[in-house]
Amino acid sequence: MRVHPSILSADFTDLAAEVRRIPTADAVHVDVMDGHFVPNLTLGLPVVERLAQVSDLPLDCHLMVEAPDRWAPAYAEAGAAGVTFHAEAAAAPVRLARELRRLGARAAVALNPATPVEPWVDLLGEVDMVLLMTVEPGFGGQSFLDVVLPKVRRLRAAISAAGLPVAVQVDGGVSAETVGRAAEAGADVFVAGSAVYGAEDAAAAVEDLRTRAAA
Ligand code: DX5
Ligand code: ZN
Repeated sequence: MRVHPSILSADFTDLAAEVRRIPTADAVHVDVMDGHFVPNLTLGLPVVERLAQVSDLPLDCHLMVEAPDRWAPAYAEAGAAGVTFHAEAAAAPVRLARELRRLGARAAVALNPATPVEPWVDLLGEVDMVLLMTVEPGFGGQSFLDVVLPKVRRLRAAISAAGLPVAVQVDGGVSAETVGRAAEAGADVFVAGSAVYGAEDAAAAVEDLRTRAAA
């Protein structure tokens, strides 16, 4: 069970310090939003390049951008350990995933709540992780969508049937209250923004989520 705090809920003027608040995390989840694929704008390549230099933790970059075929490889080159692109935005997702792996990053595909997982069942060997959005992407602090849990179950079953080492990440509304349901359905990587950065002790909040996920 891995916990990736999202710095979307951190202080953007002091990101290096905010990353030091979460030494207990398995990776830092970096939400890149372009103001087109989602109605919000966050940060981009220059910030990710610097974060990769100052962070002791691996960077898990979640690209909520149009044309990821064009932009995603640069994040792998910038030092991201993992790069996640959206299925809804990628023109050639298999080619893109192969390119990310060739550059040494873990490749992942993200699916919005209304995007079916079934087209990916035969493509699981092409990715290291599938991110299932448990909110509509764009903003932190939204409520966890329990309606996505059956999709988490179907994805986990397909991965088990294929015998592949593909991780299942859930992102959006993950908290002490919801993490157990996501884990029970088959998720093993948990993104949490407000539940971690809204806590007084962010490092302890990470450990609490991991403990609850494993329970
Ligand atoms: C939403 C982002 C999430 C977000 C999660 O579009 O992809 O990573 O930061 O924030 P919380 O945990 O507050 O829902
Ligand atoms: Zn995210």
